[in-house]
Amino acid sequence: MAKPKLLITRKLRGDVEARAARDYDVMLNPDDKVFSTDELVAACRKVDAVLPCHSEHFSAEVIDAIGPGLRIIANHSVGTDHVDLAAAKAAGVVVTNTPDVLSDATAEIAILCMLGAARRGAEGDAMVRSGQWNFWSPAFMVGRQVTGKRFGVLGMGRVGQVTADRARGFGMEVHYHNRSRLPAHLEKGAVFHDTLESLLAVSDVLSLHCPATAQNKGIINADTLALLPDRAIIVNTARGALIDEDALVAALRSGKLFAAGLDVFQTEPGGNPALSALPNVFMLPHIGSATEETRDAMGFRALDNLDAFFAGQEPGDRVA
Ligand code: DGY
Repeated sequence: MAKPKLLITRKLRGDVEARAARDYDVMLNPDDKVFSTDELVAACRKVDAVLPCHSEHFSAEVIDAIGPGLRIIANHSVGTDHVDLAAAKAAGVVVTNTPDVLSDATAEIAILCMLGAARRGAEGDAMVRSGQWNFWSPAFMVGRQVTGKRFGVLGMGRVGQVTADRARGFGMEVHYHNRSRLPAHLEKGAVFHDTLESLLAVSDVLSLHCPATAQNKGIINADTLALLPDRAIIVNTARGALIDEDALVAALRSGKLFAAGLDVFQTEPGGNPALSALPNVFMLPHIGSATEETRDAMGFRALDNLDAFFAGQEPGDRVA
């Protein structure tokens, strides 16, 4: 029987591509070229399945332009905001994601962002690297200590839970707001807040772990930032769309926020020059899941979903 035709839109690690080539008639992207929308549509028209990253956008128009041949979008990401799920469903295209396998890696980056923000990592690194470190004093580069502070988690899904565990290791008290309260064995003593407002009021550090749904876009804005304790720290490893970046810049400039640690931005790649100009922002280029182990696990998980689909089974991580 002919192997299903599979497009892998970005360069993945060797073992993942080797397994894909073994089991599928695969179209790889060895140069890791970024597809234009027209190129994405043209390539997807030739295959039964696509394994994309969050860098490829499957809007309703794109799904419509691809037409009936494409049967499954097996994402190499936990986030699915780059796919119009309703349009995929209406077109009969199955969509899957890769939950769980990136929780540890993303939690590590959230903690790095928190510490980088609290301990002035960007300023310190820039000073030493540029040869401008010519002074030391006890009054120099004083940051905020996180030990004993309140760690607010917005979105206590899998990544939020692992990040909360890591924050407990720093002696932080965990608070969270989620659609529903977790059972005690997952809550692990964290304080549940049934409103966002109540969580914000106690979050010395606020870490975002919710998806960028239509309801959540801009959830952190001038009004919600005002509810945080003075000199709070914001960490975002989820999606840039959750934050109104103009309001964030204003709060960082005014001192309402002590600092921010950001791995994601509204504009990616690229970021936001107004945030880049601020010394109290510690920034990374969307690398939450970028470890060797996690990239392999994400690739294999996406292939597991494809294998199940083409074996006539329900893929484990179906989201549409
Ligand atoms: C995810 O999996 O959603 C990460 O942001 C990488 O795409």
